[in-house]
Amino acid sequence: MWVMGPSIAAQRPRCYRFAPLRPGYGRPAQRAMPVPFIDLTRLSSEIAAAVEQDWHQCLQRCEFVGGPRVARLETELAQILGAPHALTCANGTDALIIALQALGVGRGHKVALPNLTFWATYEAIAQVGATPVLLDIDPTDGQLDVDQLRKAHADIGLDAVLAVHLYGWASHRLTELRQFCRDHGLPLLEDGAQAFGVLLDGQPLLGPATAGTVSFYPAKVVGGAMDGGAMTFAHPEALELARSLCNHGRADHYSYAHVGWNSRMGGLQAAYLLRTLEKLPQILASRRRATDWYRQRFAGHPTIRVMAPPAGITENGYLNVTHVQGKTGVQLSDALKAAGIGCARTYPEPLHTQPPAAPAIVFGAMAHSRQICASVINLPVFYAMTDAELQASADALEQAAA
Ligand SMILES: Cc1ncc(COP(=O)(O)O)c(C=O)c1O
Repeated sequence: MWVMGPSIAAQRPRCYRFAPLRPGYGRPAQRAMPVPFIDLTRLSSEIAAAVEQDWHQCLQRCEFVGGPRVARLETELAQILGAPHALTCANGTDALIIALQALGVGRGHKVALPNLTFWATYEAIAQVGATPVLLDIDPTDGQLDVDQLRKAHADIGLDAVLAVHLYGWASHRLTELRQFCRDHGLPLLEDGAQAFGVLLDGQPLLGPATAGTVSFYPAKVVGGAMDGGAMTFAHPEALELARSLCNHGRADHYSYAHVGWNSRMGGLQAAYLLRTLEKLPQILASRRRATDWYRQRFAGHPTIRVMAPPAGITENGYLNVTHVQGKTGVQLSDALKAAGIGCARTYPEPLHTQPPAAPAIVFGAMAHSRQICASVINLPVFYAMTDAELQASADALEQAAA
């Protein structure tokens, strides 16, 4: 898959935004500044020289699978994520599958997840042979509704929970959710693919998690030079099981303790990620500034509402999440694209409407996830976005909302 590579300018929509005609002036429209939804070259160009040197060394030493850079990355990840242990793997979806297995989740188990998340969360549960139990979200923060979780456990008896820290923040009831799972002996896996760098009460979000995952898909807050992922574990036994599962279930080179997977990272990717992590404070500051800028710009606007992280959660600036009263997400997306502004709709459909989700248990009417999907629009947010780009994006949304 190609994610906004070097020739980003070539991808920018060749569209023009027309300024509204002012009374008395029949002047033709001005050309608006096109803004991509994401531009990875802002970061890759800053680290390219250092990465090229690292890659040269990797090639000389053939650090293709595992190696010292992967080991160093795992140590740094554990520190940054505040977790006792971190383990890299091939992508964030594998991280979910393998972490579920390491927590003992498998065939016949009922695993709760939010109805609003990326499809990979659903896939992971289905791939380990468990039954996904789809729950609605809390409309205030877009995260799994803890009341629905309590009700589902009381009504049908759950075996595990896969919570998702969506949008670059997390549930305002996360501490309660964790406690509920502990009290009821439910393994809780936390999908932090969108939450690298998020803080809860000033501490790394995944720090207290029994198990958590992150994705290094290039468009994430910490994105790699290819697919990548990692898991965090509170307990060394789960870490060792996951390490073996990532490596064909090996006990030794040609003896096997489990039926596992081949899901490993190599030196080239680890080198790119280590150089990216050197920039983490700047990445987070720049992204947080952008997401907050939109919030300030539309504060008090009669119809535009930019969602915000709950109190106590410091977002990572992954995503702008906006709703406009009286407009559908499709209408807004069409208008923004016509104005040359890249945008996304995370997510346009809830999971329970996807045809392969037919075997899932759908718990409740899903009113909130349906509603958020119908209206959501995401404005551009990326590292080193300029004021002019923020301004152009916000202006275009305001016009689309009018
Ligand atoms: C919430 C969520 N879970 C899981 C994934 C899967 O990660 P990956 O694309 O690295 O497999 C993603 C990202 O793509 C995601 O956003």
